[in-house]
Amino acid sequence: MRRRVSDFTKGGGPYVWITAYDYPTAKLVDEAGVDGILVGDSLGMVVLGLPNTLGVTLADMVRHTQAVARAKPKALVVADMPFMTYETGPRDALRSAARLIRAGADAVKLEGGAEYAHVVERLVKAGVPVMGHIGLNPQRVLALGGFKLVGKTEEQRRKVLEDAKALRDAGAFALVIEFVPASLAKEVTESVDIPTICIGAGPHCDGQILVLHDVVGLSERPPSFAKKYADVAAAIRDAVRQYVEEVKAARFPTKEFYKE
Ligand code: KIV
Repeated sequence: MRRRVSDFTKGGGPYVWITAYDYPTAKLVDEAGVDGILVGDSLGMVVLGLPNTLGVTLADMVRHTQAVARAKPKALVVADMPFMTYETGPRDALRSAARLIRAGADAVKLEGGAEYAHVVERLVKAGVPVMGHIGLNPQRVLALGGFKLVGKTEEQRRKVLEDAKALRDAGAFALVIEFVPASLAKEVTESVDIPTICIGAGPHCDGQILVLHDVVGLSERPPSFAKKYADVAAAIRDAVRQYVEEVKAARFPTKEFYKE
């Protein structure tokens, strides 16, 4: 059965989410049994080689969302609204979200807190399910001065809690909480009645999300909170090294790989 937004309920977890950006990996992560696939704008860093997510365009997100949707995953597919495709107001947000939904997303995710609650509310009213993203917002990296832990001060903690409540009141169906102390993620999780999906924010959440390339060892600079479960980079390097050696040594192609 295909997952729907309404399947993500408080207490129904733990929910397992991962990113995917293309057809083959969407198929693989779906076969592995994840509940949700995020077509994250992290694709800018792990696929396109950009220094951050600011260079990712709506056209990039549409293209990659289409590729993921073509895998027909059972998991819920959420697409990220990239930098400056919703900050400019509800009208732009509606237009951007429409393109991602038409590309095959079941819902969209946007970064930011109470200051974007009116945008979330407008999208939800128009029938677009929205996932919030609070704590560290990578799209604010220039203002933050780096990818740093959020919630070290009382003021930051209060803001994260207020953001969670504002987004929930605006109709968000779930919240990603990124890189905050576990105690804060716990407090947020206990204070909202929608699922919290955490990354680098400890175990007291309704689910976890990781970036696929960090999980399989394809990221050049994985964050400290990501666990590497496989070394796919080594597997690819070894396979291609063998291919290079065999062609150079005239051991490939052998008879079974061509017709006379
Ligand atoms: O773009 C992304 O991959 C994300 C995750 C870090 C949650 O937003």
